[in-house]
Amino acid sequence: MRNILITGGAGFIGSHLVRLMVNKYPDYRIINLDVLTYAGNLANLKDIEKKANYEFVKCDICDFEKVQQVFLDYQIDSVIHLAAESHVDRSIKDPFSFAQTNVMGTLALLQAAKFAWNGKFEDKLFYHVSTDEVYGSLGEEGFFTEETAYDPHSPYSASKASSDHFVRAFQDTFGLPTVISNCSNNYGAYQFPEKLIPLFINNICQSKPLPVYGKGENVRDWLFVEDHARAIDVIFHEGKQGDTYNIGGFNEWKNIDLIKVMIKTVDRLLGREEGSSEKLITYVTDRAGHDLRYAIDSTKLKEELGWEPSLQFEEGIEKTVKWYLENTEWLENVTSGEYQKYYEEMYSK
Ligand code: NAD
Ligand code: TYD
Repeated sequence: MRNILITGGAGFIGSHLVRLMVNKYPDYRIINLDVLTYAGNLANLKDIEKKANYEFVKCDICDFEKVQQVFLDYQIDSVIHLAAESHVDRSIKDPFSFAQTNVMGTLALLQAAKFAWNGKFEDKLFYHVSTDEVYGSLGEEGFFTEETAYDPHSPYSASKASSDHFVRAFQDTFGLPTVISNCSNNYGAYQFPEKLIPLFINNICQSKPLPVYGKGENVRDWLFVEDHARAIDVIFHEGKQGDTYNIGGFNEWKNIDLIKVMIKTVDRLLGREEGSSEKLITYVTDRAGHDLRYAIDSTKLKEELGWEPSLQFEEGIEKTVKWYLENTEWLENVTSGEYQKYYEEMYSK
């Protein structure tokens, strides 16, 4: 029996990872620790919540005493840490909460693991899930490798970079067994509709304006979320202690091109004339400090651990659009109340 603490398991990527681990490993006990911010939603886990090897604990990762108690109560032997504030635009408006959760929260977890494991590190692991945004921005060419120097630009990426440094510092200073992965942009079911893909699918359905930042020329490298969860599973079991792995799908898209694919797909599935929703495209003021291009080189993960993305992008985006069209209740629940206020503050100018 392994007792694995997954933090942020009620969020987008966390919920896919929890589902994968609970279903694939009946002998592991999966403890999902999440404080349920606006981005955390237990409805994301309805299908597995009654499984015998699953437990949910409502807890703030910054609450050091409570986190320590969880390590004791559940005899935690591994951590997969995803809990974070994750949206760049929110980090521009409120950087403090990003430093608090992403830096101080990660530190609280590291310290709790160090105390609980007390130098007995055999069969223990602290796996930190991070982002390619710590590497900064690329020009027209090149890729981020595991050797690329950190150069974060947004408060979000600065806070994630800082948390990565703390994880490595605990490995180097205390011998805490750690591993880190840095992944590119994810898409798929259960993503909160503040991020580009679910936000735009929702707006296209409702014939609302599509706020494209700047000229829509920024490039992102998109990976289907279930492929990310599979990569985490592989790295968790086979990754080398103290190492870093980049995760990405070699799947770069200019925002405006991706937006046109989404428009065509939604229009077709809703029986509208394909492309007719392009009239909704509205160019708005660019995001401050907007990184031009992200592109991940995941060769190491492929060559050392044999992981590859399973889905072609066309298939992934079709599946994703269909999921949002079929799960209107989920979408309505997460876009009621606070979301309206967020949307107005973010997009009314
Ligand atoms: P998300 O915003 O959908 O979910 C974050 C989860 O963390 C939520 O369930 C939230 O309730 C929880 N949480 C936030 N603050 C907490 C706190 N103080 N204590 C306990 N729980 C807290 O995020 P996501 O997109 O699923 O990202 C998960 C992780 O993966 C993050 O660490 C993010 O940096 C990283 N990542 C995300 C992407 C992406 O494209 N979304 C890409 C690479 C890496
Ligand atoms: P996002 O999903 O926020 O991910 P990230 O900034 O972490 O890469 O944004 C993806 C891209 O889409 C990014 O270049 C910003 C752009 N974007 C818009 O043009 N309009 C929007 O309303 C949003 C949310 C994002």
